Amino acid sequence: MRTRLVAGNWKMHASKAANRALLEAVAAGAATVVGAECAVCVPFPYLAQAAGLLQGTKVALGAQNASEHAQGAFTGEVSAAMLAEFDCRYVLVGHSERRQLYGEGDAQISGKFSAVLAAGMTPVLCVGETLEEREAGRTQATVARQLEAVLARSGRAAFATAVVAYEPVWAIGSGRTASPAQAQAVHAFLRQRLLPETRILYGGSVKPGNSEALFSQRDVDGGLIGGAALVAADFLAILAAAAQRKE
Ligand code: PGA
Repeated sequence: MRTRLVAGNWKMHASKAANRALLEAVAAGAATVVGAECAVCVPFPYLAQAAGLLQGTKVALGAQNASEHAQGAFTGEVSAAMLAEFDCRYVLVGHSERRQLYGEGDAQISGKFSAVLAAGMTPVLCVGETLEEREAGRTQATVARQLEAVLARSGRAAFATAVVAYEPVWAIGSGRTASPAQAQAVHAFLRQRLLPETRILYGGSVKPGNSEALFSQRDVDGGLIGGAALVAADFLAILAAAAQRKE
């Protein structure tokens, strides 16, 4: 059975004061949740603060990116081994903002995925099509290509633990979510290339009001949450919806 996972992606939103209030509220709310796991992916400078605040709680810590290199002259980069030293369990890899705004390609992303695994953490591989690709009927071809690059390098067995997040680019931060049926169709397509136990999260404008319908889909194993992860009550409502999903 796949344990549902709800992961917050804080993106570049945080401050020491806001983090403390948010993490204390999330940890308190998550304490009584059974049947779903929860994580927050925070900006690098706050990893130590978040690790301290989350110690002994049910909320796991994650980061939003990692270098594909182990170490060396890579100014401004952060290695997977460094993240592991701060109790990170999850690392987002290949988020569409990294692909689109920072030009990360499939080869680099597969290197990041393998670096995160090598450091003993769980990569969360993000895949998803743009609106243009969807309208051109290239949704499956796009996500297959993104996944294939990682499978070729790390193998299907890596997905016994690694997580995939399907995030249609047109749904991210837009308030326009994929319908539960649209999400399920892509998740089922991805599942054929993964393992029965691989967790496949949906991301893109997940809110308390649509999370239950999305999580009721057979191959939707939780969510990657952006905007709603910054509001404790919303994030906890989404976590509760994941915990309630019927098999
Ligand atoms: P959103 O972001 O929930 O704000 O759409 C999701 C993501 O980018 O991971």
